[in-house]
Amino acid sequence: MTLWPGLTRKETWRRYCDEPRRVQPEHNTIAELRALGEAAREEYDESRHDWHPNMRIVKTSQMKGAQRVLDLIVQSNRQESDRIRGVGAIDAFPGLGKTTIADTFARSFDQREIRRHGRETDTGHPRLPVFRVSLSSGTTLKSLNEKICQFYGHPSVKKARQGYSADRFAGFALDCILSSETKLGIIDDVHFITPRRKDGKDVINHLKFLNSEFPVTFLFAGVDLEGKGFFSDPQTASRWTRIGVDPFEINTDEGRADWQSLIKATERQIVLAHARPGMLTSIADYLFARTSGHIGSFFSLVTRGCYEAIQTGKEDLTRDLLASVPIDEEAERGRRQLEAALTAGRLIAKPTRPRTREVTPKKSAQLVTTG
Ligand SMILES: Nc1ncnc2c1ncn2[C@@H]1O[C@H](COP(=O)(O)OP(=O)(O)OP(=O)(O)O)[C@@H](O)[C@H]1O
Ligand SMILES: [Mg+2]
Repeated sequence: MTLWPGLTRKETWRRYCDEPRRVQPEHNTIAELRALGEAAREEYDESRHDWHPNMRIVKTSQMKGAQRVLDLIVQSNRQESDRIRGVGAIDAFPGLGKTTIADTFARSFDQREIRRHGRETDTGHPRLPVFRVSLSSGTTLKSLNEKICQFYGHPSVKKARQGYSADRFAGFALDCILSSETKLGIIDDVHFITPRRKDGKDVINHLKFLNSEFPVTFLFAGVDLEGKGFFSDPQTASRWTRIGVDPFEINTDEGRADWQSLIKATERQIVLAHARPGMLTSIADYLFARTSGHIGSFFSLVTRGCYEAIQTGKEDLTRDLLASVPIDEEAERGRRQLEAALTAGRLIAKPTRPRTREVTPKKSAQLVTTG
């Protein structure tokens, strides 16, 4: 098993964009599993343990909605460099897929740019259509600029002891952006900035400066940006487009059909001997109660469930098996309330009537997967 470091270096980002899609391991029946020799069985199980946490991304309705807006922002930002470009800010609670939306959008953008313009820039440098950094606590102007330089592997980062100023790092970052012809900059986890504090305000002002100085479209992602006061600054409010991401809901037919589509698209990717259509859709209520419709909790439950099903030889994802799989505390807290509502019949997770053509569960279930 190879674990990649985060996508905050150009090498890992290129791999993420350039490597071919993983291949789903073949399905084996119980009899075929038993017929495998010990080494072959171990190899097969390992390939399944590698596969389930890395299944293809499901194109959920939330993702499609958010990416449509991101595309609008990026593609309308072709103005000359002296005009201010619009910024996209994905703003939602934890585990709702913000990073996945930003990364998959940026990967498609990157691949399209490389296809159109080639791997080298006019000046003979490797083309890097996207840079991507993640913030951490205590981010300052200088560390933000330094992180951008780090993404490109700029030599200044190794010579940090020379004590470059924030401005010098910003200059180096701009050099990298220009020579690599970068057009999109992702800054993830911007909630580590505290706009209501002086140092946070400084970073926000600096982001505004970068937005006007760097010839790139910025795309930010973070938790509860609105609540933390990111849009209280009038200039930010006028330049940043807020893109919310909602959890799944089962209060409407459309919401229930979206939930079913996610489950169906996931079900088809599960490689267990007893996996079959309906294995997960038949327990849609239970899955909703366990995860409160949070995509991060859902995938964590399914991934851990698959591991357990393989290790125990049960080779099936049943309600009983999943009941023994713990997930994040937030989901566990929501679980008791939802289970009570579902048992009392106050909520149901299955659609009560067929949906219109374009959103039938069957059709949207086929929208699985981008890489
Ligand atoms: N559309 C999707 N298809 C498949 N898996 C997904 C999808 N969206 C999210 N996930 C999985 O759910 C988990 C949480 O997603 P992600 O990290 O994107 O959420 P986040 O909102 O950025 O969370 P945080 O607030 O903790 O940063 C990840 O493991 C991711 O792989
Ligand atoms: Mg994230």
